[in-house]
Order: sequence, then structure tokens, then C-alpha cells
Amino acid sequence: MDQLLKLLTVLFMLAFSFNFGNNIDIDNSLVKQQTCSLLLALNCNYTLTMTRDPKCDLDNRKNHTESRRKRSTETVQLQAASTENDAILQKLKRMDHKLSKNMDNLSTRVLRGVRKMEAIVDDVLTKQSKRTSGSQNNGICPPGFQTVEKWPYCYLFSTFNTTWFEARDYCAAFEGDLVTLDTLKEHYIVTFLIKNNPDYRDALGWWTSGTFVSKTKQWMWTSQLHMRPFTFIKWASREPNETLSQCVALNKDFDHLWSDELCTNKFNFVCEISIA
Ligand SMILES: *[C@@H]1O[C@H](CO)[C@@H](O)[C@H](O)[C@H]1NC(C)=O
Ligand SMILES: *[C@@H]1O[C@H](CO)[C@@H](O)[C@H](O)[C@H]1NC(C)=O
Ligand SMILES: *[C@@H]1O[C@H](CO)[C@@H](O)[C@H](O)[C@H]1NC(C)=O
Ligand SMILES: *[C@@H]1O[C@H](CO)[C@@H](O)[C@H](O)[C@H]1NC(C)=O
Ligand SMILES: *[C@@H]1O[C@H](CO)[C@@H](O)[C@H](O)[C@H]1NC(C)=O
Repeated sequence: MDQLLKLLTVLFMLAFSFNFGNNIDIDNSLVKQQTCSLLLALNCNYTLTMTRDPKCDLDNRKNHTESRRKRSTETVQLQAASTENDAILQKLKRMDHKLSKNMDNLSTRVLRGVRKMEAIVDDVLTKQSKRTSGSQNNGICPPGFQTVEKWPYCYLFSTFNTTWFEARDYCAAFEGDLVTLDTLKEHYIVTFLIKNNPDYRDALGWWTSGTFVSKTKQWMWTSQLHMRPFTFIKWASREPNETLSQCVALNKDFDHLWSDELCTNKFNFVCEISIA
């Protein structure tokens, strides 16, 4: 990178200086060196009149170790000494032309690169600010899902009712499952989110992943996320009360406590995904 910068500086200075004709006024010792070696490489018959930098004087260059001490950073003057030089000058001008074209191309490409970088940085910053903004932590839930602060699950509340089986399929489509009330705290978070939202007022009940497993004769959460027997219960009074009702809903009639329902009944449902 450093090398590239140096080279670019030299090229840029050269491109500039040739606009002034045969005289090159260069105010940078690095550029001076590069200019001299370039001219030497071209085998040019310029007489380099070095006012302050004898190192660059073609006639004097064997002596340049000593004269280097005297070098100052001032002007280097370059003069065309013969007609042959015109040809070389033309050559240099063509180089200059090509050079400035390439410089244009380069700066276009550099600019394009810079814009790309800016876009990437913008993107990252936007995502970061989304993540940290909002007391509801909603930035980290997929669109449509909700949660509360410092809680590792997001919930999706349906706006329509369906059977328990279909509800489970809807949740799976969102890479989640029907909600599992893993702790008493989670029961209160989920029922709070339901009761606190006026949009959910008309829903008579909400499917959870709770079911009665006939084989083991116990109530279990059957989501992919947590498959386990109930660790606490929040049944409504006199629930469960029907042997054929084997799916658990949060029942509006019972203040969103649990009731056993026929799995083929239609209720709204709550999907859950983990963000931990
Ligand atoms: C080298 O340069 C110094 C002064 O810059 C001069 O006095 C000396 O004669 C030069 N030597 C040769 C060999 O040209
Ligand atoms: C360089 O130009 C000078 C005249 O300024 C001339 O005497 C000399 O022969 C030229 N050298 C070459 C190598 O062409
Ligand atoms: C710029 O340079 C690239 C690669 O060197 C080349 O493909 C492209 O055609 C050039 N563009 C222009 C406008 O000269
Ligand atoms: C289910 O939705 C239908 C259509 O919106 C509605 O008529 C019905 O009352 C709902 N049933 C329940 C149990 O919410
Ligand atoms: C079970 O409870 C529900 C709700 O209170 C009630 O509608 C239903 O009739 C009860 N079923 C039986 C078999 O008692």
C-alpha cells in the first residue's frame, strides 16, 4: 500500500508538471529521485540543471554522494537541450496523456470501491442500531413476532382461528412451534401480551403445545423446542374435565387460564421461536 501510494504520488506529480512544458518543478525529494531515474531509463539527452539537487545532474551524478549532503528540498529545473529532446518530450507527453486517463479510471474505480464500503458500513450500522433500539427487544424478533426485554423467546399471535393440528403446521412454517409455557413466568408473559393488546380481544382462546399423551397418561408440552411433562399448572377451575379434549388452550372465558379442548376445535394460536 505504501509503495502504491508513493508510485501514485510520483505519477501524479509527473502528470501535473508536464502541463508546464519542459520545466518540471517538483518539490518533493522522492519525486525528484523517481523523475531522474525515469529520465535516465529513457536514455534522454536532457540537461538537467539542478539548482539545488546535484544528485540529479547527469554530468555530476558520480559525485552525488558528497553533494547529497547539500541537497535541499527546493526546485528542480529541467530544460530541453536539443531538438532530439522534442521527440522524447512527445513521448513523455503521450505517457502523460495515458497516465492521466489511467488516473481517471483509477479514481473512478476507487470511488466505486469507497461507495461499496460505505454501503456495507451503513448496512452494518443499521442492523446494529435495530438490535439495540426499542425496549421491546423487537429488533431481534422476526417481523410479526413479539417479545419483552431480556427474554429469549419471540411469539407470534395469530389473527385467525384454526384447529390445533393446523395451528402447529403454521408455526412450523415459521421455523417455530406452538407455545410451551415452560415456567410460570412464561405463562404470565404470554397471557400479558394477549390481554394487553386490544387487537386480540375477540379471540376466544389460544392454542398452546400442551396435549394429553394417552400412552403415558400425562399432560405434556409437545413442541420441538421443549418436549416435557408440565412442570407447573395453571388450569382454570374444574379443568381438565373432558376425556376427549386433549389439547390445551388459554381460555378467554377463564381469564386465559388453561382449559382442555377438542383438538379439532378452532382457536387462535401462539407460535414460539427461540432467540437465545
Ligand atoms: C564533488 O562535488 C564537490 C562539491 O559539490 C566538488 O567540490 C568536487 O570537486 C566534486 N568532485 C568531483 C570528483 O567532481
Ligand atoms: C546530447 O545533446 C548535446 C547538445 O546539447 C550533443 O552535443 C550530444 O552529442 C547529445 N548526446 C547524444 C548522446 O545524443
Ligand atoms: C479501466 O480499467 C479497466 C482495467 O484496467 C478496464 O477494463 C476498463 O475498460 C477501463 N475503463 C475505462 C473507462 O477506461
Ligand atoms: C373462528 O373464526 C370464525 C371466522 O372469523 C368466527 O366466526 C368464529 O366465531 C371463530 N371461532 C372461535 C372459537 O373463535
Ligand atoms: C367442562 O368444562 C366446560 C367449561 O366449564 C364445560 O362447558 C363443559 O360442559 C364441561 N364438561 C363436562 C363433561 O363437565
